[in-house]
Amino acid sequence: MAFTYYIKTYGCQMNAHESEKLSGILTSKGFEEASDKQQADIIVLNTCCIRESAETHVLGNLGIIKKYKEHNPNLKVAICGCMTQQRGVADRLKKRCPFIDLIFGTHNLHKFSEYVDRVFGGEKFTDIWEAEGSIEEGLPMKRTGTTSALVNIMYGCDNFCSYCIVPYVRGRERSRKPGNIIHDVENLVGQGYKEITLLGQNVNSYFCDGIDFATLLDKLSDIKGDYWIKFLTSHPKDLSEKVIEVIANKERLAHFIHLPIQSGSNRILELMNRKYTAEQYLQKIDMIKRYLPDAGLSCDIMVGFPTETEDDFLLTLDIVEKVRYTNLFSFIYSRRSGTPADKMEQVDEKTKKERIDRLIKKQFTIAQELANSNIGKIYKVLCDDICENKFIGKTQTDKKITFESDKARLGSFVNVKVTQATNSKLYGTEV
Ligand code: SAH
Ligand code: SF4
Ligand code: F3S
Repeated sequence: MAFTYYIKTYGCQMNAHESEKLSGILTSKGFEEASDKQQADIIVLNTCCIRESAETHVLGNLGIIKKYKEHNPNLKVAICGCMTQQRGVADRLKKRCPFIDLIFGTHNLHKFSEYVDRVFGGEKFTDIWEAEGSIEEGLPMKRTGTTSALVNIMYGCDNFCSYCIVPYVRGRERSRKPGNIIHDVENLVGQGYKEITLLGQNVNSYFCDGIDFATLLDKLSDIKGDYWIKFLTSHPKDLSEKVIEVIANKERLAHFIHLPIQSGSNRILELMNRKYTAEQYLQKIDMIKRYLPDAGLSCDIMVGFPTETEDDFLLTLDIVEKVRYTNLFSFIYSRRSGTPADKMEQVDEKTKKERIDRLIKKQFTIAQELANSNIGKIYKVLCDDICENKFIGKTQTDKKITFESDKARLGSFVNVKVTQATNSKLYGTEV
């Protein structure tokens, strides 16, 4: 009987995509996905450390896995990803959780096949690489979706925002060769994928073989087929007019931009090392709205960054009011050891909580108003889920919609008329 595996993924889409590589490697070795994690022969935790809460979840799960291992001493436990790549964490984990068989980091995922052999051969070890190597192409991949697919275009981050751990655990920026990316997207479209999301911590600084991000988008959108392309994440300082122009001129590029501002206060933006002002950010938003009046906009905002005052926070609320995001991801600032912001004067927990509540409340009202303004409109929708006879899909501006239909299928594009909006959720009927 084949060995079975269970992978638990924490964090962003980048990590989700890397778990597709981990399961691809295991599948290529003859492993099968376990129907129940308690029955698995190997459990892999692909971790995140962007906020303290992410690490707390991992540690909580390790507590449960320890019990599984007590019942089943043959179970192998592996842990990898951003958390283990942090300086000192692997050593702490080894002491705290001696039952873990394998610890590796973000720079050596391509060695996983070899590591699995060693672990099943009875070895217990840690291998964390200090620096990123060259990009490993052609790893096996077991994709989780049949409609949407993730494609890395670059790795790492050079921005060193003062609060952020990513540059320390993901290494320096490096871009994949355009030919390899085009080849991947052609294959995915050929296999029937309808939504391709290009991934990078900062896609706008993509550059390889003389090709910048705008040119890459332009080339990708020439691939024949019925699909759309989205991308994550854009850093406001690097988002160029050329990129927006390409999106406006080419079919197949979704009118959707995730553009995190983090804070509306210039003093805080400077302390964050974001390298733009709120005014410059708003100019970019105006540019997007000029070219793409229907664009869906989403954003990440952090509250309670060190030294943030009530006035700074009001400036953030002001931005949310001005831009009117379809989707807002709001976070409480979390101290990350080794980052410059960790050494700044901290805001107390109560103030942080109170601010995030106000931010969420403000966004709730805006999202509700925006949702109501969609009633009666017709959108092209990609059906990506079916649940209890209801079809679920999203528009190219990334609005989620539940709709009724006679002929929609998973992975089909349908025109849907919005009939209702409740708590910012859209409902409609195929037309
Ligand atoms: N590369 C992306 C962000 C990746 S991390 C960008 O620059 O926009 C995703 C989000 O997590 C960030 O946008 C930020 O809002 C949040 N984040 C990062 N570090 C954080 C920290 N220390 N505490 C709280 N939120 C954080
Ligand atoms: Fe972190 Fe800033 Fe890089 Fe985004 S751009 S990953 S927030 S350092
Ligand atoms: Fe992503 Fe978390 Fe790492 S957000 S890049 S998995 S720290």
